[in-house]
Amino acid sequence: MAKKDIAWSELGFGYIKTDKRYVSNFTGGKWDDGAVIDDDMIVMSECAGVLQYAQTIFEGLKAYETKDGKIVTFRPDLNADRMIDSAKRLEMPPFPKERFLDAIKKVVDANRDFVPPYGSGATLYIRPYMFGINPVIGVKPAEDYQFRVFTTPVGPYFKGGAKPITVKISDFDRAAPKGTGNIKAGLNYAMSLHAIVTAHNEGFAENIYLDPASRTKIEETGGANILFVDSDGNIVIPKSDSILPSITRRSLAIVGEKYLGLKVTQREVLLSEVFEGRFKECGLCGTAAVISPVGRINDHGKEFTFEAGMESMGPVTQKLYDTLTGIQMGTIDAPEGWIFEI
Ligand code: PLP
Ligand code: COI
Repeated sequence: MAKKDIAWSELGFGYIKTDKRYVSNFTGGKWDDGAVIDDDMIVMSECAGVLQYAQTIFEGLKAYETKDGKIVTFRPDLNADRMIDSAKRLEMPPFPKERFLDAIKKVVDANRDFVPPYGSGATLYIRPYMFGINPVIGVKPAEDYQFRVFTTPVGPYFKGGAKPITVKISDFDRAAPKGTGNIKAGLNYAMSLHAIVTAHNEGFAENIYLDPASRTKIEETGGANILFVDSDGNIVIPKSDSILPSITRRSLAIVGEKYLGLKVTQREVLLSEVFEGRFKECGLCGTAAVISPVGRINDHGKEFTFEAGMESMGPVTQKLYDTLTGIQMGTIDAPEGWIFEI
């Protein structure tokens, strides 16, 4: 088997159809055995629950080729756990953890030729998702569901890769207190589309959402958690019950503490602290974003530029990035249980 003929290092974050995908159906109250299939098309009722009431959840993780030619994934067990939490919140039948891990393994293995080569800067993005598929017209959960996993090779999420971006403070809210901000459901992204189009039209790369109750605290962006580096070079992570528990951010907290010897504090972070100059660096962290440096934050025309500036990542962000990607690509020893070989 040979790698596909793709210009790996030119890839952006887009969809390229790969050869195989995994599908399992939930009917009659149980999951079937599941299978790896060729067909990328889905046929469903015009009245399917997902189409009418957006009953859909998803996950995102990546497969990497390591320096010694292995193919690995990073902490997929945490994606399985989070998808179970998302399913429970939307009254869907959780897809069992062991089955989730087996599906990831099978679908990556079946698409080995699409895993970008080590050093290309690209990775294979893995998208597990689940949705209500039978007709639903009164507002209630579906009875039948489909769980699927597809893969697509991707490059950096933000154009320019490691170059700092400018983000705006959004006028829109992302997640209400006690809402669905802490799960990975399509509905959280549908409501962000108008905000992201608005931000892009104004020349910003992303939105920072504030807590809707007081609009004073920093929550997260549309597709990533946020971390700050304070004036002592330590890490500060905004804490909130309505942000997605990012696996990348949780891993970076451990990397910062255990590998780099930094102090990591999780607490509420006020927007005003940014403008008071409390932080030297800022990064967006997520599977797609990895850790993308934020150079500047714009709050309705008032701008704050971090000390690291707009040309390159700050030194702490760079160390976090190098250590995390080193662990993912097999050049730095990983903590026990973080790397799953395919
Ligand atoms: N926050 C949001 C809203 C996201 O969509 C994502 C992406 O998955 C993240 C945070 C980062 O989470 P993770 O690091 O688990 O990919
Ligand atoms: C991910 O990082 O996996 C996500 O799902 C974020 C999405 C905006 C692409």
